[in-house]
Amino acid sequence: MDLKITPAKNLSGTISMPGDKSISHRAVMLGALAHGVTCLENFLPGEDCLSTVKCLSALGAKFITAAKDKIYIHGQGLTGLTEPFEVLDAGNSGTTLRLLSGILAGQPFFSTLTGDASLCRRPMGRVVKPLTQMGAKIWGRQDGNYPPLAIRGEKLKGIHYDLPVASAQVKSAILLAGLFAAGKTSVTEPAPTRDHTERMLKFFEAKIYLTNNTIQIEGGRLLGPKNIYIPGDISAAAFFLVAGTIVPGADITLTKVGINPTRTGIIEVLKKMGADITIFNQQELNNEPFADLRVKAAPLKGVSIGGKLIPRLIDEIPILAVAAAYAQGDTVIRDAAELKVKESNRLATVAEELRKFGTKMTELADGLIIRGGERDALQGAECFSHKDHRIAMAMAVAGLAAQGQTLIKDTECIATSFPDFEQALNTLRVGAYCHTPL
Ligand code: S3P
Repeated sequence: MDLKITPAKNLSGTISMPGDKSISHRAVMLGALAHGVTCLENFLPGEDCLSTVKCLSALGAKFITAAKDKIYIHGQGLTGLTEPFEVLDAGNSGTTLRLLSGILAGQPFFSTLTGDASLCRRPMGRVVKPLTQMGAKIWGRQDGNYPPLAIRGEKLKGIHYDLPVASAQVKSAILLAGLFAAGKTSVTEPAPTRDHTERMLKFFEAKIYLTNNTIQIEGGRLLGPKNIYIPGDISAAAFFLVAGTIVPGADITLTKVGINPTRTGIIEVLKKMGADITIFNQQELNNEPFADLRVKAAPLKGVSIGGKLIPRLIDEIPILAVAAAYAQGDTVIRDAAELKVKESNRLATVAEELRKFGTKMTELADGLIIRGGERDALQGAECFSHKDHRIAMAMAVAGLAAQGQTLIKDTECIATSFPDFEQALNTLRVGAYCHTPL
């Protein structure tokens, strides 16, 4: 499937964002592990989260879909999962495969996990190593480093683990395994990463404690059922924050977007670049803050970013690179080598695709230098998604403010995280107001 993008004359109106992908995964998993019926509202019905639902169904949890974005989960409790008959398929979703590995490490049965070609190239040693230390038996291609993984769950023992890379997925896999382990399990992070697992475990009344950069969990307790409202995905909103900034005259509002501080790096950096973003109507439900965001077109200037900020905007770097291409001056992104092991090698794919618009880029070992230009300097291009949803959407936004038409090839992947992306964009092109009540 191709996505054709013509330059936007304007963008205006109000739209709500699909549910946060990370929180949707975790809500499905914890709902399935709690006792009783948990209701999820504003669940993201993207392919990644549906992969999690399918895997948990194969493990014995029961799901009832009341609406596209509203599901009920009949959780069977911490001891309620059963050995799956089939191979569990995480599709394109690293979060599904890594977090589920943590849960499966503590189950008294055998399971196998796989994914698509992209996922089977992504490193799993980072979860296999700590889970093996806790007592699980795990096999995988290339010495346990790549999927498929075969897991024989065991009675786990709590460990302390110092994370070598800042990864919320690895942290979460260990904490979820800790739910099934004897004694205490703790993880120390080199830099803060998204803390949705910790917040949701607390909401489900697990025994979880935070001191500085160390999180500790005691196994054995998860209470439920709970009702969860999933805030809009700030990683989805990021595409519109940039679109609303670079399309001349734009003025758009995105409602009920998650503003968890471990995820708001993109807002901070865009503001530092000169973006006009207002945060209002702040609320909090089930331990997660959210708000409405209004963005108006504004001129941007280049910035330098790196260090502990990177994990707080790790998924937004492709769209940040687009903002940088429309900014005055250079933008330098460092300490982002993790981007090489995402759905695609995002340092390489962002550089390759943005160059097609005429942007000058340098690819570094751990980042990018993007040489910004005049607002009307970019030329529409024919781009390839590299089967990576965030590359496809970032290039679509780049096309909105470029001269002439842009074509993005192979855009099926957008459905992994934002099935209604094109519709949301078209809504703003005609300036409509589309409201999903809470
Ligand atoms: C995620 C964590 C991040 C992020 C991914 C979702 C999560 O990955 O890139 O899209 O839900 O925990 P890492 O933890 O591997 O950095």
